[in-house]
Amino acid sequence: MNFPHLFSPLQVGPYRLQHRVVMAPLTRMRADRSSFAPRPLNAEYYAQRATPGALLIAEATPVMVTGRGNPGTPGIYSEAQIAGWRGVVDAVHAKGGLIFLQLWHVGRVSHSSFQPGGALPVAPSAVAIAGNGMLAMTAGGKMVPYETPRALETDEVGQIVEAFRQAADNAKQAGFDGVEIHGANGYLLEQFLQSHTNLRTDKYGGGIENRARLLLEITEAATRVWGADRVGVRLSPYGIANGSGEDDPMPLYTHVIKALDQLGLAYLHFIEPRSSGAGRAEVNWQNVPSAMVLFRPHWRGVLISAGGFTGETAEAAIAAGHADAIAFGRIFISNPDLPRRLRDGFPLTPYNRATFYGGEAAGYTDYPVYDGMATA
Ligand SMILES: Cc1cc2nc3c(=O)[nH]c(=O)nc-3n(C[C@H](O)[C@H](O)[C@H](O)COP(=O)(O)O)c2cc1C
Repeated sequence: MNFPHLFSPLQVGPYRLQHRVVMAPLTRMRADRSSFAPRPLNAEYYAQRATPGALLIAEATPVMVTGRGNPGTPGIYSEAQIAGWRGVVDAVHAKGGLIFLQLWHVGRVSHSSFQPGGALPVAPSAVAIAGNGMLAMTAGGKMVPYETPRALETDEVGQIVEAFRQAADNAKQAGFDGVEIHGANGYLLEQFLQSHTNLRTDKYGGGIENRARLLLEITEAATRVWGADRVGVRLSPYGIANGSGEDDPMPLYTHVIKALDQLGLAYLHFIEPRSSGAGRAEVNWQNVPSAMVLFRPHWRGVLISAGGFTGETAEAAIAAGHADAIAFGRIFISNPDLPRRLRDGFPLTPYNRATFYGGEAAGYTDYPVYDGMATA
């Protein structure tokens, strides 16, 4: 067996993981196109990747209709969506796996074609995503410049908290084992955290404590539904996805992580800065800080990290105490039996970026398990 640390048990909240290979949340845009409910194809995909006592984190899932920003992403705000997710969860549980749902609001990373009544997307402040090659996807799948979002009123921010709370409750009804709050990658909660996207002057803007308030209120709302030990939070300090980026991330993220640390959560989950934007392009930024190395001293609980890991680097990170578990994204797409391949040193099947987003079974449920034949 390879990688003794990666393949040792780990306690995450009430769950005893049998190994530390976690499936990262991965948007695949293959839900039902009208109800945005998961369908049997999605259940098959997750079940293929489930192993006994191992954690899968399901793809980012909008908590309300204004939180949508991509065609074909599943929601968790209607009965049909809850029922669809129940099919996914049951299929994963049948294989002995565990599955958390990632709760999402895209904020300004949207387009009016997704919004009720064709309204503008909502955000902490009316600041559009700008910059080289930064384009929004419309509901019809066209790429267009981002619109300037509408700043949320203070009482509307309370409605966002309530939507996350309701979504956490819906995830419970669907049978999930827990939820992860998506505070990463330039989406709504990160827009509130960071100074260039949050120009507010109410209690949700200004200093670091105010900018962190929404993430903390939402996390606490989820813990009231689930208990803290079944709630995780994902952050991407030093990330640059979707026009994000804080000038001086250390004080902001130190404050956020210390505050989250008080809550006794299931885990904290990082996207390593070197892989920021991996969803859009093949990136491997050099000479950037390591989130897990920088922030581990401020976090007493379980720490999961993701971003370009191999079996070797995952083993080394856990052995060094930088992380407790490693989430794998792209290579989990193309290797449904990834834990076994890493453990037994089998070759990995390369992924095809062209089929990451949207479509049917091709590039989704048709990647083979390793059968002893050369796959790469
Ligand atoms: C196709 C694709 C979809 C992704 N979707 C999400 C998502 O829904 N939520 C999220 O937090 N990160 C998302 N990410 C980021 C991954 O979870 C992961 O952090 C990143 O790919 C780096 O890990 P890797 O190098 O093992 O792929 C996505 C990445 C890819 C490639």
